[in-house]
Amino acid sequence: MISKKSVQEILETARVEEVVGDFVNLKRRGVNLIGLCPFHNEKTPSFTVSPGKNIYKCFGCGKAGDPAKFLMEHESYTFPEALRYLAKKYGLEIEEEVRTEEDEEAQRVEDSLFILNDFAKKHYAGQLFETDTGKSVGLRYFKDRGFREETIRKFDLGFAPNQRDVFTQKARDAGFEPEYLRQLGLTTEHGRDFFRDRVMFTIHNLTGKPVAFAGRILNSTAKAPKYINSPESEIYHKSRILYGAYFAQRAMRQQDECILVEGYTDVISLHQGGIENVVASSGTSLTVEQVRLIRRFTPNIKILYDGDEAGKKAALRGLDIALEQDMNVRVVLLPEKEDPDSYLQQVGATAFQEYIEEQSKDFILFKTQVLATDAGADPVRKTALIKDIVASIALIPDPIKRSLYIKECASIVEVGEEVLINELNAQVRRLLGKRRQEKEREERAAQRQEDHEAVETQTVEKPKVATSSELVRHRYEREIARILIASGGQIFDKEEQITVAEFILSHIEEELAAFESPIYRKVAELCLDLLLDKTPLSTNYFLQHEEESIRNLAIELIHSPYEFSPGWEEREIYLTTQKAPELNYVQESVEAVDRLKYEKIEKLMEQNQQLLQEARSETAPEEILRRMKIHHKLLEQKALLAKRLGLVVGPRKG
Ligand code: GTP
Ligand code: MN
Repeated sequence: MISKKSVQEILETARVEEVVGDFVNLKRRGVNLIGLCPFHNEKTPSFTVSPGKNIYKCFGCGKAGDPAKFLMEHESYTFPEALRYLAKKYGLEIEEEVRTEEDEEAQRVEDSLFILNDFAKKHYAGQLFETDTGKSVGLRYFKDRGFREETIRKFDLGFAPNQRDVFTQKARDAGFEPEYLRQLGLTTEHGRDFFRDRVMFTIHNLTGKPVAFAGRILNSTAKAPKYINSPESEIYHKSRILYGAYFAQRAMRQQDECILVEGYTDVISLHQGGIENVVASSGTSLTVEQVRLIRRFTPNIKILYDGDEAGKKAALRGLDIALEQDMNVRVVLLPEKEDPDSYLQQVGATAFQEYIEEQSKDFILFKTQVLATDAGADPVRKTALIKDIVASIALIPDPIKRSLYIKECASIVEVGEEVLINELNAQVRRLLGKRRQEKEREERAAQRQEDHEAVETQTVEKPKVATSSELVRHRYEREIARILIASGGQIFDKEEQITVAEFILSHIEEELAAFESPIYRKVAELCLDLLLDKTPLSTNYFLQHEEESIRNLAIELIHSPYEFSPGWEEREIYLTTQKAPELNYVQESVEAVDRLKYEKIEKLMEQNQQLLQEARSETAPEEILRRMKIHHKLLEQKALLAKRLGLVVGPRKG
């Protein structure tokens, strides 16, 4: 165990901006730094780092903490692991006290695995550079492919000769445990070397440690697979690794773009040619973790495909994940029969760079073009094509981006925009329904967890999170607040020149005092102040408000654009002129105001009923009469609202 004194020293030394800055692209904003939150998907930065307080906080998802907490969240480190990382980063000596056996064991295993892989890496490099066969076969092979020696060394390339167990023997002699050799896949069940007669590629993690290897066959006529890879292990999780990412980090950040290729050799060739912002998915389709990894450095991704039919087909598939993570995806088709490596070697780095610059196409437009050409005028295929295209567009979280794509795609496919909008609305609605269900499940789970923890640890105060039932209770107030923040300054009625906020507030001013939730009331009151002041209203006003709770709320509300006016899910019609459901603030405003009033009337009626009961039991005839009158009045108003709401929210009749 790390001693208390050490822990304290480490925590006092670590600077949040330096620690976070190694993982997140931060920009200065006043006394703070901001960047895209690595813990949730966002397109405008709400992740804030405060050097003064030495903490980070995301106003979008609420994650917050000190440097050690960041490492625990981001790297899935345990607390001791985070401390060790920090100690290393800051060159601090760690004072150990007796550690638990488990701690020691886990750390020992992981360290051993890395040490062993490092040993293997050096062994393969030694074979490549220092043995006769290595030089005449392996090194020769790499050089023939145009790799320079410095490149070969930089990427830790190597050679595994065609021998039974040179490596396994050597590793055992050096004292490595057979168990670890097997776990890392370096040695087979039968005690033989797993990699034989292959040139070797070391796969690094983001900190440059060797986590796995790939071996490429030399004899291309052999029946064996072209590449074989280390298995997954405690230090190698395939779905979280991108080949080359360690070498590409800086360039990705600087150029604000990531070039994605398929093969190891492609990465190395491009890198050697001075194009360093390149990584490979290594032949498999992209995973969410890999996309998130790229997103730490840049939201822009350019994918290079082989120029054959297979490459073209591949280009149409599998990018959903990138779209969902709100990446800007461009694709480049290379000339027929070329892969990035071969093409670069053929035309040189400059021409290559020009080519990918000129040929890169926006993924969705590219897909639309290819499919539209295929479908021709065939109406059945055209319908399928529209569904397919819209399926991609629907994944994009940003509504403005979505509507731009609708416009462009409609013109490529030669159909009216409203055809695509209808399909989009249907698909977005389905998606949202699915996500909403997921979210509710999560909320229920979180609630159970919270209840559970509340029982267990009553001393620790948790940040107050609105529970689902509270959310439901205040949903109309919340909806009003959301519209005010997101669209309060928009024009509600062109002729009358009134804004959304003016419309809403003029209708609910007297309801304000009865708002149950203080924070939603505060939003409305702030708007009222601004209106009285004749200051224009903007989302930024709330985002930059001096009160943290208001800022947080604003971020939360504008980042959940999918919470439509309550009842949207029951609604069967979407206006076809609606560009994107959440841009429909005029209708939402009318509905939200009516809903709020409706709810208030219901509450008043309930109260009135109770008083009526009391009056009856006290046989107070005057009071009974008064209560009855009030009841009828409320009922009238309720019917009126119900009718209006019915017109808007009810299913289409006839
Ligand atoms: P070279 O042929 O040496 O230029 O390699 P390449 O990277 O161009 O190979 P290719 O385009 O055939 O494959 C692209 C990537 O897919 C490779 O870099 C590997 O990551 C992966 N891959 C290809 N063949 C195999 C295989 O047989 N097994 C496995 N596991 N992966 C493969
Ligand atoms: Mn190749």
